[in-house]
This record gives sequence, C-alpha cells and structure tokens, in this order.
Amino acid sequence: MPTYPAEPFRIKVVEPIRQTTREERERLLAEAGYNVFKLAAETIYIDLLTDSGTGAMSDGQWAGIMQGDESYAGAKNFYNLQAAITDIFGFKHWVPTHQGRAAENILCNTLVKAGDMVPNNAHFDTTGANIRAAGGHPIDLVIDEAAIPSSTYPFKGNMDIAKLESFIQSTDRERIPFGMITLTNNTGGGQPASLANIREVSRVYRHYGIPFFIDACRYAENAYFIKLRETGQGDRPVIDIAREVFSLADGCTMSAKKDALVNIGGFLCMNDGTLFEAVKQELILREGFPTYGGLAGRDLEAIARGLYEGLDADYLAYRLAQTAYLGEGLLAAGVPIVQPPGGHAIYVDAGAYLPHIPREEYPGQALTIALYQAGGIRAVELGSVAFAYTDQETGEIQYPPLELVRLAIPRRVYTRSHMDFVISTFSEITRQKDALKGIRIVKEPKLLRHFTADFEIIA
Ligand code: F0G
Repeated sequence: MPTYPAEPFRIKVVEPIRQTTREERERLLAEAGYNVFKLAAETIYIDLLTDSGTGAMSDGQWAGIMQGDESYAGAKNFYNLQAAITDIFGFKHWVPTHQGRAAENILCNTLVKAGDMVPNNAHFDTTGANIRAAGGHPIDLVIDEAAIPSSTYPFKGNMDIAKLESFIQSTDRERIPFGMITLTNNTGGGQPASLANIREVSRVYRHYGIPFFIDACRYAENAYFIKLRETGQGDRPVIDIAREVFSLADGCTMSAKKDALVNIGGFLCMNDGTLFEAVKQELILREGFPTYGGLAGRDLEAIARGLYEGLDADYLAYRLAQTAYLGEGLLAAGVPIVQPPGGHAIYVDAGAYLPHIPREEYPGQALTIALYQAGGIRAVELGSVAFAYTDQETGEIQYPPLELVRLAIPRRVYTRSHMDFVISTFSEITRQKDALKGIRIVKEPKLLRHFTADFEIIA
C-alpha cells in the first residue's frame, strides 16, 4: 500500500454525511434519470464530482469572514486581497470576479474577435466555450504524452513547443489576440507543466508579440509539482516558484475555488493598462464595481487568506500525496488510471476498465452509475457523454480520445478512511464488472448534455 500523509490540520467542525442503502440509491438514481448531476447532494456519501468550491476553509479564513467590510466601494478586504495578489502574482492590475469563467468571459469579450484563435496546452471547457462565444477558436497544443494514459512522464501538462511555433508561424499574427497555458492541465488529468516548459512558452509568445495569459486555477499544485520533480527546484520556497511562473506572463485568469481554498470567487490580472481600462467597463456591466466584482467583502477576505494557505508546503505535500494515495490504491486494485496521479483528481480509464461496453454505450457513464449504486460515491463522466459530438459536415460522431471518469478530491475535506472506502468500493465493482451493462441516452439538450441528460441502462 502507498503511504498516506498525516494531515497538517486537525478537525474543529464536522459536517455529518450519511450512507444510504443500495436499494435507496437504486431508486434515487432511477428517479434522477441515471444522471448523478441530478442527485440531491444529501444522498451522496463521498462526493468527488469536483474539487471546485468544495474545499474546507480554515479557522483563519472563517475569522476573516467575520471581518468582511461590505462597503460598496473601496472595502478594506479589497486592499487585503490586492496586497496578496501583488505579492504572489505580481501583475500591475487586477479585478475580482465571482468565479473563474467570469474572468474568462471578460477577457474574451474584451480581446477575442470573430475568427480569432487562442492557443493553450488544453483549454478547460468553460475557457473554450467563452472563446467560441466570442467567435474565436480554442486551439489545444499539449504534448503527445498527454494522450497516453500509461505514460508516467512527469510533466504531461507541457505545451508542445514545436507545435506552438508552427501554429503561430502558419497563422496570421492578427488572428491571435493572446495565448495561454493552463496550470495544472485539468483536461489532461490534472497534470503539471514544468518551469522549463513555461519559460519556453513565454519566450515563444514574447518573440511573436502575443500577450501570455495563464489559467492559474491550480497554480499552487503546479508549483509544488515543479518543486518535487524538476531538477534544481527542490530547495526553492513554493511561493518563489509561483512568482517566477507569473513573472513570465502578462496576466492570468483565476478560479479561486481551487487553489485559493474558498467556496466562491475568482479574479483577472493583467499588466496592460489600456486593457485594464476596457476590462473595468466590462466588469461593471457584468459583475460589479471594480473593488468587489460580484463578491461580498467577506469573500475577498477569505481569498486573501486562502491564497497563502494554498501555497503552504506542508499543505501541498499532503494534498498531492492524498491524491497519489488514491491513484496508487486504485492501480493496486487493478483499476486503470491516467498516470501518474494528477494534482486534484484521479482519472479512471473507463474504456480500458470496461472493455465489453462499446463507446456508443458510454462505459464512463456505466461506471459513474455503478459507483453511486455500490457506495454512494459521486464521480463525473468525462468521455463520450461529455465530449462526443456529431460532425455537421460528415454527419459522423466524433469521439474524444479516452473514456474517462474523474474522481476529483475536495481540499481538506476527506480522510484516509474515505479514500480507502473509495478503493474498496472499486474492488467490489471490479468483482462484478463484466456484468455491468451499457447505457443509452433517452433525452438530451442541445449543449453540454452531460449536466442534464436522462439515461437508461440497456437491458
Ligand atoms: N479553468 C480550469 C482549468 C478549471 O478547471 C475551471 C473549473 C475553470 C477554469 C472555471 O472556473 O468554475 O470558477 O468558473 N473547473 C471546475 C471543475 C468546474 O470541476 O474542474 P469556475
């Protein structure tokens, strides 16, 4: 068994969770159209749907909540958060937003025009959707290793520099309003990019005069992977690595619901003063006045404090080791996963786990159903239910490269026994997995169907 890290915190407040019976869960899931998004959270025992906004805040953050200054303009918490952002991120300008996609929306509405293209290692779905909504095209240029689940390459989130250069050379410079890198690469399994790679990405963007924005949601986990895995980085404080990463860029979008350890919030940073003026106008239209941007004063304070807690080396060592513990436990139980374990989640290769279920019958959805039925565990399908689409020109169904199921781990929420429970539930499923049946979609919306579709188990 892999080792489990001792938690660098103790528990002061508890939230009861309840295990239901298998019979109850089968009924509840049928009522929810076999879609775990439609289950009431109270009926879930271990919720691994997302690591976003689901973390536990510290006593320090809760104390800060009581010091929320709810003035409309110029609240003291705005200045506290400004000091933290200047210290860690170092950009000249920033605005608060209610979450990450609002920062993306404002950036895209300000910079992206019809026909534009935005390169990234891999865009998260909301980032890609915001670029498309502004008439642009998201371009993914991650290294090839990212698509090989068994590859244990330590930086599978790296940008393919050769692909990036040839993309830029073959594209009209005017068509690229900015370029990005996502840290860590959520779409590819929560995999980090190396500091050397981020330096190269920066060099290329700067060489061609393309503004460089980092999708920074999980920047602290990425910085700790750099410390752990990259030659010459082991002795550096995590905050120094983070500062260097941001010094290489011209701005960032941030969902504070991840590495800032809060339940809601985000921000958008930039160095360009002209862009900042335009961003403020968009912000006032969509989010709010530039000193609160869709958040309460207390939320700003929780982010200011959470940013430093999220960079704490003991916390990060525990965080990444907990995720690795789950991943290695699943591997030892014969469950194929995307290797090596990522920062915030384990991605199970459901296509390889359930080879008797063809892609048209959604092996990932079959596994999310089995996980809830067997253990009250909620995971998310990130395979053909979420990503397959019909090509408008050929009429053919385009499938994503892999049929994945993500087990995302909320921060500071679950203990070792909870992780062991997930592993033993998988072992139970494994014993009967050949009997699991394929899934059919009975009702689906036009867009983002995984959130609201109804399914049935094929008899
Ligand atoms: N970028 C990345 C890499 C993300 O993972 C997310 C959210 C966002 C941007 C958008 O941030 O939710 O605050 O608007 N990811 C969540 C997830 C939803 O479950 O992975 P948001």
